[in-house]
Amino acid sequence: MVVVSPATSRLGIILAGCLFSFLLSHDHVVIAHAATASPAPPLSFSFDFANTSDYSLQDLRFEGDAALNGDLVDLTCNSVESKENYYCKGRMSYNHPIPLYDKSTGEVASFATTFIFAIHLIPNRTKKGDGLTFFLSTYPSRLPPESSSNLLGLISSSDTSAVGEDRFVAVEFDTYSNPWDPTGASDHIGIDLSSVTSVSTTRLPSYSLNGTMTATITFVNTTRTLEAILHFDYSNHSLAAARVKTQLPDPLDALLPPVVAVGFSAATGGNTELHQIHSWSFNSTMAPRARETPTETPTWANNVQPEQGQVHATKGRDNSLIIGGAVVVALALVVIIWSILSWCRWTRTRDSFGTGTRLKRFEYREVSTATDGFSDKKKIGAGGFGVVYSGSLKADQPVAVKKILKDSRGEFKDFLAELDAVGRTGHGNVVRLEGWCCSINNFMFWCLHRQNVKLFLVYELVPNGNLHEHLHERPEVLSWARRYKIVKGIGSALHYLHHLCKPCILHRDIKPSNILLDHDFNAKLGDFGLSRVAQYDDDTSLITAVAVGTVDYMDPLCKKHGQVKLRPSSDVYSFGIVLLEILHGENNPDLLRKLHRDQPETFVSDAADKKLDGQFDKIEMERVIVLALQCCDLDESQRPSMAAAMLFLENGGELPPATPDRSKPP
Ligand SMILES: *[C@@H]1O[C@H](CO)[C@@H](O)[C@H](O)[C@H]1NC(C)=O
Ligand SMILES: *[C@@H]1O[C@H](CO)[C@@H](O)[C@H](O)[C@H]1NC(C)=O
Ligand SMILES: *[C@@H]1O[C@H](CO)[C@@H](O)[C@H](O)[C@H]1NC(C)=O
Ligand SMILES: *[C@@H]1O[C@H](CO)[C@@H](O)[C@H](O)[C@H]1NC(C)=O
Repeated sequence: MVVVSPATSRLGIILAGCLFSFLLSHDHVVIAHAATASPAPPLSFSFDFANTSDYSLQDLRFEGDAALNGDLVDLTCNSVESKENYYCKGRMSYNHPIPLYDKSTGEVASFATTFIFAIHLIPNRTKKGDGLTFFLSTYPSRLPPESSSNLLGLISSSDTSAVGEDRFVAVEFDTYSNPWDPTGASDHIGIDLSSVTSVSTTRLPSYSLNGTMTATITFVNTTRTLEAILHFDYSNHSLAAARVKTQLPDPLDALLPPVVAVGFSAATGGNTELHQIHSWSFNSTMAPRARETPTETPTWANNVQPEQGQVHATKGRDNSLIIGGAVVVALALVVIIWSILSWCRWTRTRDSFGTGTRLKRFEYREVSTATDGFSDKKKIGAGGFGVVYSGSLKADQPVAVKKILKDSRGEFKDFLAELDAVGRTGHGNVVRLEGWCCSINNFMFWCLHRQNVKLFLVYELVPNGNLHEHLHERPEVLSWARRYKIVKGIGSALHYLHHLCKPCILHRDIKPSNILLDHDFNAKLGDFGLSRVAQYDDDTSLITAVAVGTVDYMDPLCKKHGQVKLRPSSDVYSFGIVLLEILHGENNPDLLRKLHRDQPETFVSDAADKKLDGQFDKIEMERVIVLALQCCDLDESQRPSMAAAMLFLENGGELPPATPDRSKPP
């Protein structure tokens, strides 16, 4: 028997711990390496619309009236004379998502964009409108349907703020003075947060937003400052650069989603002008996540900085692989450690069942194979304490396997008592216990579900049924010679248990169905499920236990009190009742006592089982009757000891009345 000591399980924990820290440190090295070898390269793209090989239309999204027009992009209509020039709106945006912040890491991008754009007024007109913006919005960009005129292609209403998917952040280059715009000048730049009413504005000289200009817009993640600088470098008027800036709220969640679209919008109304983009460059410190643009990455990478694009994608995958791998490894280790601990605890508990016996412990596998997986065909009996299967072990050794039903407390006290009691017997009239087996559905959780522990006892197979069947169920009559042999067999077993075992063993459940027969009609006492070991070294040390047993065969003294002192005399009583049943066919002590008292002359033939048809040895029959009646005497002190009972059966003569020291071996 292998007992897993606490030291062994400690060793298991230490080994698992070493493995765990090794893997952790290994992972650490991999992560550090990835971080130092390739510092996160920025997201970057640039388009020069004057150079057809410097951009790809796949990278651009045009909405509304926006379109590529020769060497520039017109955001609104390009024909100044046509009617469609009025109430136009359009957007051009980058056709890939741009990460702005990462909720899981808390990182926020810094970005910078520079673009050369033009606003051209219509010759000979003093009225102009409405302006152009650079915006960030939900990806992909969606041009609001009713956003022409002073709504700048940003929003459907000037009265409300955009919410949800419609939110935006924009820098406006506005040429028309609306009621919500700064007074005094139609031309101004401003910062718009989901509304055309700017949070920050800078007034410009009238008609200064006329011609080609350069704007640079930056966002710095540490200060959350969004700033736009406008240079009038390509225009004829030599104005100083204009700026507008604001600090965006922290966090950015309320303002924009983590991934955004970036681009330009513009609109015209009853007044009109041209809004054009010549070139555009954009950089961000946050690389696009490979996962979000699985199919687009190659195109994007081909047109813009191929090496960097691929590095971003691979690195993103690497990181998630490393993190995913670490999580899996950690989980696996937890499971492994838990398994080791559970297994150690389980085997320790399992083996403790067998402590103090020299019985063999069978593996569940062996027991299950022997009984064809406890198939119904192999079932040979079922009692109050378990189901019994016949089976055959590897060496063709026939066995009976008793699957112990758990008692209400989910414990196996009776099982242990049986192991203990039977394990020490070695008598021909006691069913031999070959070993035991203990299994569990799932050892991982056994400490949570102790009642799932299953216990099995492996007995020698006693092939010829039990006494109850032979007396009452089988057609052939059990002859007296066989009955007498059975009586002596049971007596001998009880004599052995009561007097030759130290400490004495009480069976406590003697009844015909617990008396098994082999082909030679040798009786074998089985089912010690209820037996207890009585500490029987002195007269007073009788154990107390809840009265158990089968009612008909149970000592009335036990029935009366419930809690009783268990004595060998209770077994003697049950033995007497069984004898009456063997000789008379029924166990009716009162009737037989009456017969014995009233008709002493004809008593023997009246009492004998009618099935025997007078075929019996009169002397033997008389001895059994006398013994049976005295054994089931209601006065405990009149019952004989098993030693005296055996002497009487063998030799006849006087049946000595019980004496106080009946317990002592002769
Ligand atoms: C046009 O763009 C390509 C690709 O960016 C570049 O190699 C080429 O020099 C550009 N041509 C001019 C005239 O700028
Ligand atoms: C700002 O961007 C830098 C990269 O340029 C990054 O290392 C840093 O973590 C960012 N800071 C915040 C607060 O996101
Ligand atoms: C983006 O980065 C490139 C090179 O890294 C640089 O040439 C360009 O000026 C940058 N653009 C902006 C808008 O900062
Ligand atoms: C706008 O700019 C053009 C070209 O520089 C100029 O001819 C025109 O007079 C300007 N318009 C106004 C209203 O200042």
